[in-house]
Amino acid sequence: MKNAKIVLGVSAGIAVYKAVELLRSLVKEGAEVRVVMSANASKFVTPLTFAALSGHPVYHSLFDSLNSAEMEHIRVAEKADLFVVAPATASTLGKMANGLADDALSNLYLAFKGTVMIAPAMNEAMWEHPAVRKNIELLKSRGVEFVDPECGELACGVTGPGRLADTATILDKIKSHFNRAQDLSGVRFLITAGPTHEALDPVRFLSNPSSGKMGYAIAEQAKSRGGEVILISGPTYLKAPSGVDLKLCKRADEMNVLVQDHLESCDVLVMSAAVGDFAPENLEKEKIKKQGDERLLLKLVPTKDILMEVAKRKSGKLVVGFAAESQNLLEAAMEKLKRKNLDLIVANDISAPGIGFQSDSNQVTIIDREENIETLSLKPKREVADLLLDRILARIK
Ligand code: CTP
Repeated sequence: MKNAKIVLGVSAGIAVYKAVELLRSLVKEGAEVRVVMSANASKFVTPLTFAALSGHPVYHSLFDSLNSAEMEHIRVAEKADLFVVAPATASTLGKMANGLADDALSNLYLAFKGTVMIAPAMNEAMWEHPAVRKNIELLKSRGVEFVDPECGELACGVTGPGRLADTATILDKIKSHFNRAQDLSGVRFLITAGPTHEALDPVRFLSNPSSGKMGYAIAEQAKSRGGEVILISGPTYLKAPSGVDLKLCKRADEMNVLVQDHLESCDVLVMSAAVGDFAPENLEKEKIKKQGDERLLLKLVPTKDILMEVAKRKSGKLVVGFAAESQNLLEAAMEKLKRKNLDLIVANDISAPGIGFQSDSNQVTIIDREENIETLSLKPKREVADLLLDRILARIK
């Protein structure tokens, strides 16, 4: 972690003393740490303690900026590699999830564009409260990493989940962030994500429930590990991961053109998009009107299979496909792997509850062209993305 630039955000709670320990460990590892404190954190430990240990002024009040400390800190945050918040209280989590910026910590968080890691600490009832759970899910869906609290005796006397993770656990997570940091450096990825929309008329389309979360997670992780990433996305509500070249499209044929146009300049293609297999034969110029009780018959034509087109000119590229199946998962995935001349296929059972489409987690089986089958347990999509990238890296090495 030599010269790693880290911002350490400290919010108020009895666990603040562990933030002092964490700061000491980070400095010992050679990191350059700037500390920012929430409005109430200084009631537990003075900013002076953090300033002395970090060797830098501490940003703790929005209005102490006569010497433009605030601007300086925003510049520091812009250059930092990682923003760690430990301990994070329910209130700080809420501000981060909802974009409120009424103290130095929440302010700096909004100014920061890189990876954020949060180690929460609070009373167990607060930890389990639906409002807190919702804020955590929201932050996770935006790519924020969490070091979950541990079970144990809490400051309020009860025993349960909520105690700030051990300093060593947080430190390990920070170290692994920096260690694996650039192992995909120089690898050029072309990744597709999301559903496609096949229009019937100006206001209607055929689509599927894909949220794009899996493809966006792969793009984000590939980028954060040093890869160059072009992300071709169908319509989603997701924000492009920073540093990724986002190309938007709606229809399967538009996605096909984008993939074929960028194929030459990539080393790895990951087709995680749920491409529509059929499109209406005719696109009506005007909205289709209801004719009493009369049935409306739609004529659909198959779309081009993008991966089959890619297979014709694959030359040395590593190609990964996905197979979302509701029955005969492994046989169907294996058949697609062969038919589409893939190197790897990621199969998931869309009939199982809580995984696949829309969800933040996924349970997949990765099959390679030598027919090795690896079934992973249910994990957040970001972790699934990392494991898939590990397998890709092993094959291109
Ligand atoms: N795919 C594609 N072009 C299409 C349809 C799918 O490139 N027109 C890709 C998907 O991105 C995925 C893989 O092919 O990586 C498998 O998609 P899937 O819909 O599961 O398979 P299909 O070949 O369409 O077969 P079926 O729908 O009959 O299961």
